Amino acid sequence: MVTGASGTVGREVVARLVPLASVRLLTRSPACLAPPAPGVEVVVGDFSDPVRLATAFAGVRAVFVVTADPLRPDHDANIIDVALACGVRHVVKLSALAVADPAADDLITRWQRANEERLLASGLDWTLLRPRAFMSNTLAWAGQIRESGVVRGLGRDGRNSCVDPRDIAQVAVRALTRTGHEGKTYALTGPQGLSPADQVAEISAVLGREIRFEEVSQDQARQALLVRYPAPVADALMESARRTAAGAKSGIESGVAEVLGRPAGTFRQWAEDHRHAFTGGQAVLPGGALGNRVGPV
Ligand SMILES: NC(=O)c1ccc[n+]([C@@H]2O[C@H](COP(=O)([O-])OP(=O)(O)OC[C@H]3O[C@@H](n4cnc5c(N)ncnc54)[C@H](OP(=O)(O)O)[C@@H]3O)[C@@H](O)[C@H]2O)c1
Repeated sequence: MVTGASGTVGREVVARLVPLASVRLLTRSPACLAPPAPGVEVVVGDFSDPVRLATAFAGVRAVFVVTADPLRPDHDANIIDVALACGVRHVVKLSALAVADPAADDLITRWQRANEERLLASGLDWTLLRPRAFMSNTLAWAGQIRESGVVRGLGRDGRNSCVDPRDIAQVAVRALTRTGHEGKTYALTGPQGLSPADQVAEISAVLGREIRFEEVSQDQARQALLVRYPAPVADALMESARRTAAGAKSGIESGVAEVLGRPAGTFRQWAEDHRHAFTGGQAVLPGGALGNRVGPV
């Protein structure tokens, strides 16, 4: 079972899981989903509805869990209760690397920490994936890059060891399909710490045209976040951005190489593979996730 299957990481998990296992995916809106590969079973469900969730989870052996609302701790609680009731054996949980930093105490990190603790106390087999910011967060810049060649954001020089979501997905698939990953926690970063200015320079090199980064004020950044998120979440993202600016997220971790036996993908490679998103005619936005999105606002 893949939850979050229409999202950034989940859709990459489904693509890699299909040749290896029977796949069922959960969504609230099947009509919004790209047509699934042959053999993939689509079930409708919502983390806030445990009764329907129980039908969706019947017969499932392992679940990839992606939740996305830090104001809804009941979502992870419902998933664990239903997984236990349905005889699920293994949960692979998408968490966040900030959880490992005792100095990180924003709403989103506290929520992921509590989710992890609940899973570890559940008695289910578990694997925790703790990624740093997704490289794909920069897709939020696509419109600005196409239209003006100027990216407006916060924290020009704060480095983040951002990770390719495809690497996260590949690690998830290993954990879901092979033994030996139970009880393991993987810290997943890319191979280098990059600031928003560095990422803009990389995209600029890939596109072969000049793109500038323009710093906005704290207030402008918060106002931009408030368009997409409720105030407590916007404030948590602002707090997260302050930690990035202070250098708290630039460390390189070895989780990708440990599981996959190869180095983590670079931002340059990710940008080359997503070149079309920064040149095409249609607005491209990542799925609405919660992470280090403050840079792109
Ligand atoms: N972005 C980052 O930089 C970053 C960094 C570290 C950790 N993370 C973590 O990554 C997770 C987000 O992953 P993502 O970006 O791959 O996801 P995403 O693109 O934001 O997509 C969210 C997914 O969750 C599903 N979903 C949301 N609410 C649901 C509900 N009530 N019931 C059932 N499904 C629901 C959506 O499915 P449907 O709409 O199809 O129902 C969608 O597939 C978060 O936990 C975040 O903390 C993100």
